Amino acid sequence: MDRFFSLQLSEKQKAKRKKQKAKRKVGESYGYASSFVGRFSSKLPWKETLSFRRLYQEYCEARNKVSQEIMGLLGISLGLDQAYFKDFFEQNDSILRLNHYPPCQKPELTLGTGPHTDPTSLTILHQDQVGGLQVFADEKWHSVAHIPGAFVVNIGDTFMALTNGIYKSCLHRAVVNTETVRKSLAFFLCPKLERPVTPAAGLVTAENPRKYPDFTWAALLKFTQNHYRADMKTLVAFSKWVQEQESNNKLIP
Ligand code: OGA
Ligand code: NI
Repeated sequence: MDRFFSLQLSEKQKAKRKKQKAKRKVGESYGYASSFVGRFSSKLPWKETLSFRRLYQEYCEARNKVSQEIMGLLGISLGLDQAYFKDFFEQNDSILRLNHYPPCQKPELTLGTGPHTDPTSLTILHQDQVGGLQVFADEKWHSVAHIPGAFVVNIGDTFMALTNGIYKSCLHRAVVNTETVRKSLAFFLCPKLERPVTPAAGLVTAENPRKYPDFTWAALLKFTQNHYRADMKTLVAFSKWVQEQESNNKLIP
């Protein structure tokens, strides 16, 4: 990470979306992105990121293994078979992202990463000792302390849909400071891009009726890149959009 982010900007930009020339284009999730300008309107983000799929192959695979184990436990906690989510995520289009937050002269005017819920399924974050990650709960922001040797794990919107809203994604953000560079490594477990995301049958009941329509991770990823929301309503807005698309399609003979 240190070597990459200390390169000249023009060098870093060479890592931008290269892969997509050959492959189908899915927004801008891969490659280098400096978000010193970007989609956050109120406070501009103060960070650079590098996301890629299979570059740090072994590291990705180790994280993948951890996330599969967690998926087994989450399945059990819902009364499903241990293999249920493991099977669902056995093949996946997960993303590894390096977040690099340089020190900022005016940290109160910015945020490293603005408030958001992760659109992905499960996030396993390794943050360094600097601190800056915050989670919104009980109407206020709480700092998530760095614990040596520990990952921060959170649920994303796609897993919320897979569990029909039983597990909830959480609103979080990252603040920056005047003195120290902060780094974090995020592994985002994601389904295969085109695999339908539909809740487990046992989780849709009379008391907990179906909350979200079927969708693909590819569609949600694209939606979140076009419509950033600094609140917890992404999945609701996206669901509405999917339903509108479906009824539009029905109107066209
Ligand atoms: C993210 C994120 C927080 C952090 O990359 O989605 O929330 O602490 N990062 O870097
Ligand atoms: Ni996040």
